[in-house]
Amino acid sequence: MTTPPPGCPAHMAAGPVPLSAITASASLPDTYRWLREKSGPVARVELEPGVNAWLVMGHAELLELTRNERVFSRDSRNWGDYRNGVVSPHSGLGPMMFYRDNVTGADGMEHRRLRRPLDDALAAVDQRQMRRAVERTCQDLITAFRHRGHADLVSEYARIIPLLALAHASGLNPEEGHNLLEALAALFGSAQDSQEGNRRFEEILARLIRARQANSAQDLASSLVQHTDLRSDDEKLQSLVVLISAGQQTLSAWISRALYLMLTDSRFENRLRGGRLGVDEALDEVLWRDPPMTHMPARYALIDTHLGNQAITRGDALILGLAATNTDPRIHIDGAEPEIGNRSHVGFSTGPHQCPARTPARLIARIAIEQALYGLPRIALAVPAQDVVAEPSPWTRHLASLPVTFTTTTSTAPSSSIR
Ligand code: HEM
Repeated sequence: MTTPPPGCPAHMAAGPVPLSAITASASLPDTYRWLREKSGPVARVELEPGVNAWLVMGHAELLELTRNERVFSRDSRNWGDYRNGVVSPHSGLGPMMFYRDNVTGADGMEHRRLRRPLDDALAAVDQRQMRRAVERTCQDLITAFRHRGHADLVSEYARIIPLLALAHASGLNPEEGHNLLEALAALFGSAQDSQEGNRRFEEILARLIRARQANSAQDLASSLVQHTDLRSDDEKLQSLVVLISAGQQTLSAWISRALYLMLTDSRFENRLRGGRLGVDEALDEVLWRDPPMTHMPARYALIDTHLGNQAITRGDALILGLAATNTDPRIHIDGAEPEIGNRSHVGFSTGPHQCPARTPARLIARIAIEQALYGLPRIALAVPAQDVVAEPSPWTRHLASLPVTFTTTTSTAPSSSIR
């Protein structure tokens, strides 16, 4: 067996490696390589002290995990450690892992019934209208900081765009979109603010559902209201809540990472002066090398079984190692150059629960990046590249901030002309 690479979490762990240490490791590919050599394509990891799970890193094993719903459930009420009280109801794992009564916690036919309305609503999004709205949102945000000559493109830009874009696509006007943004900020604040934020968030969306029941329009809320697969007002509301909230962190991380790549890697920087690789290639490279969900929770074994030579016990939690699967040597030959046009990564997961929003997500991300790169003249990173770090988490490697400088100007970014 090889020695763990420098910066690898193996240096600190005697038992199963903590998942958050893997996420924070200096080199994900080196850490996954070491873990694979040690355990094969499915490895034991620690979620929090005393709570373990399996990290699935092999492509074939990920397909089996996500597609075989008779063996692996999305419903965390099947999680043995939760049922047996090993995981506290107040655990920090709760927001990502505890059961939710919506599409994300359902299996089989019930999942398909709740999922179809989301697929249909997203397919009906008017892309031209979305493009114009996102461009306007980005330009408004840029106008607010352009006079300063510096900004944090995470907190002042990438974190705000997904919510405003999805609020608009849902049918909210700009003022309601900003109210929703404030409610979301409170939701992630203190415990007391969080409850109030959640109440306001749902209240704004419930009002929108009622308005669309009275008068239909061409938006996500109207599609959900009209969908015959949704049986109650609450199912319509929860479907809208999940559509608006599921893309927040992921989309914001995708925009920030791709901007970082384009500002730090000369293959992309040159594009601004007519070079070869552009925004879509940057977005693809991020999905291969640093997908927004590094580790996606979870599936729960319904029976004793085997996966990747490991004996899995009924009730075990299995984490989707999306970043790891992308480096599976059985499907991917790593090289310095990205594989242009190859989108066979698992950044959006796979199987029935895979992300339904690839197309609108890419549209929003592409516009956000174009507007920043072309709307902020001489944009450059304000700190050394290695000082841009991720927030600690077992699940994601979201950039904590992306400080940039640019020259001040009063002109606006071009609309709809950059491809
Ligand atoms: C417009 C923005 C987005 C929206 C509205 C959205 C919506 C959703 C929804 C509703 C689900 C749950 C689907 C189900 O359980 O059947 C989901 C799952 C997921 N999404 Fe997205 N998403 C967005 C952006 C993204 C982005 C940018 C990424 C990363 C590149 C992403 C990655 C995922 C992953 C990994 C899952 C989990 C799949 C699984 O459990 O197997 N999403 N998304």
